[in-house]
Amino acid sequence: MEKKAELYRGKAKTVYATDDPEKLIIFFRNDTSAFDGLKIQQFNNKGMINNKFNYFIMKKLEAAGVPTQVEGLLSDTELLVKKLEMVPVECVVRNYTAGSICKRLPVKEGQKLETPTFEFFLKDDALHDPMVNDSHIISFGWGTQEDIDQMKALSLKINDVLKKLFDDAGLILVDFKLEFGKFHGQLLLGDEFSPDGCRLWDKKTMKKLDKDRFRQNLGGVMEAYEEVAHRIGVPL
Ligand code: TMP
Ligand code: ASP
Repeated sequence: MEKKAELYRGKAKTVYATDDPEKLIIFFRNDTSAFDGLKIQQFNNKGMINNKFNYFIMKKLEAAGVPTQVEGLLSDTELLVKKLEMVPVECVVRNYTAGSICKRLPVKEGQKLETPTFEFFLKDDALHDPMVNDSHIISFGWGTQEDIDQMKALSLKINDVLKKLFDDAGLILVDFKLEFGKFHGQLLLGDEFSPDGCRLWDKKTMKKLDKDRFRQNLGGVMEAYEEVAHRIGVPL
């Protein structure tokens, strides 16, 4: 399958049409973005690492019964996927406090939560992805109650699967972001799961091994992504 017209250029990935109207090709670029596109930098091999990382995680999730849009790896940096009608919200699950929740609530980074939290954010860089609730999603027609229930249930199931996978590799899954979309009426997991969209800390040292290294200018961004990939067994 070959790339045809460019349909959408995101901050780190570009989406192309294919000969099949129901399939797309996602091209993972070397761009890394933070703060809603304010800070952008290129890293060698980043597209390849995130593409292979995402494919590995998506296959694990499929095996655990989570339906995803993934069809297959086409090359080091290209993924063939089903074309989804995306629900324009981001689903965030947190096991520990970090990031935006420490700005919104009187909590410090690193607090283990009694149970995971689930939050929706509207995908809107210009508005810095504001938090929205179930009522907003239904009232504005972004999704149905059934979509909401499924996104919550799948996100928490994904948390259970991935918390264990990372724990077995000596890593804490602090939080992560997911996006879902519809394919012939069925809700599927879309977008990507990579160190770009989650937080991972070393269990022993609490060292950050995710995109916070880029956001907070900690250095060693790709080294951290490669280390996580290596520890969970992603073939690079
Ligand atoms: P937050 O702490 O900024 O709300 O982010 C929570 C998690 O979700 C963190 O792992 C980063 C990820 N995330 C994204 O990847 N993209 C986004 O646009 C947002 C809001 C969060
Ligand atoms: N994913 C968003 C961006 O690329 C937010 C972030 O990761 O900081 O700008």
